[in-house]
Amino acid sequence: MALRSDAISNVALKDGRQVTIRPLVENDRTALADFGLSLPKDDLLYLEEDFTNPEIIARLVNASYAENWRQIVAVADDGSIVAYTSARRVPGWSNHVAELRLIVKPGWRRSGLGTYMAQAIVDTARDLGAQKVTVAMLAALKAGQAIFSRLGFAVEGQLARHAIDRNGELHDVVIMSAFLRV
Ligand SMILES: CC(C)(COP(=O)(O)OP(=O)(O)OC[C@H]1O[C@@H](n2cnc3c(N)ncnc32)[C@H](O)[C@@H]1OP(=O)(O)O)[C@@H](O)C(=O)NCCC(=O)NCCS
Repeated sequence: MALRSDAISNVALKDGRQVTIRPLVENDRTALADFGLSLPKDDLLYLEEDFTNPEIIARLVNASYAENWRQIVAVADDGSIVAYTSARRVPGWSNHVAELRLIVKPGWRRSGLGTYMAQAIVDTARDLGAQKVTVAMLAALKAGQAIFSRLGFAVEGQLARHAIDRNGELHDVVIMSAFLRV
């Protein structure tokens, strides 16, 4: 499911609900802010971007035109954003590498949406010219690892006590990667 800049796909989830998967656009500012505010604190803690910060939301929405960055959202029938994923090419000597992010709103999980979004963003990273994709997540978060290993990603490394949560607890971070055929 390759999503080019103007591509839209309608997807039926395992639980019968439908979503539209499409690129993030400038008009999504309010919906993306609402999505951020709907995420549980534990999720927010582990995301590199602070989705509750209006400045970050503005930066993400403005980046919909950025050359090296693609962002995709899943939109429910009521117009709310229920999942977000992104691929961003790394500057410098890893310019052939795209870093991925993926998050599904609780209440929409375990219906296959994370998998659809992951597939879409890998295809989009390929369109972006990336030859390799990486995704980082807490070692304890098994759902993300299950999704990406099904898509052919392998664990490339684990960084010890590399993330710190709001309680000051340290967590290991797993880096998974896959090489893309271009
Ligand atoms: C990871 C995440 C995106 C998964 O979204 P999702 O919509 O639930 O994913 P899917 O429904 O496609 O699940 C695919 C598979 O992942 C595994 N999985 C999903 N949730 C799981 C859980 N809580 N525990 C164990 N395995 C889980 C299962 O194998 C599942 O397949 P199955 O339902 O056929 O058993 C979601 O849990 C999330 O947003 N987590 C917080 C952010 C995060 O960890 N992002 C990943 C790295 S950036």
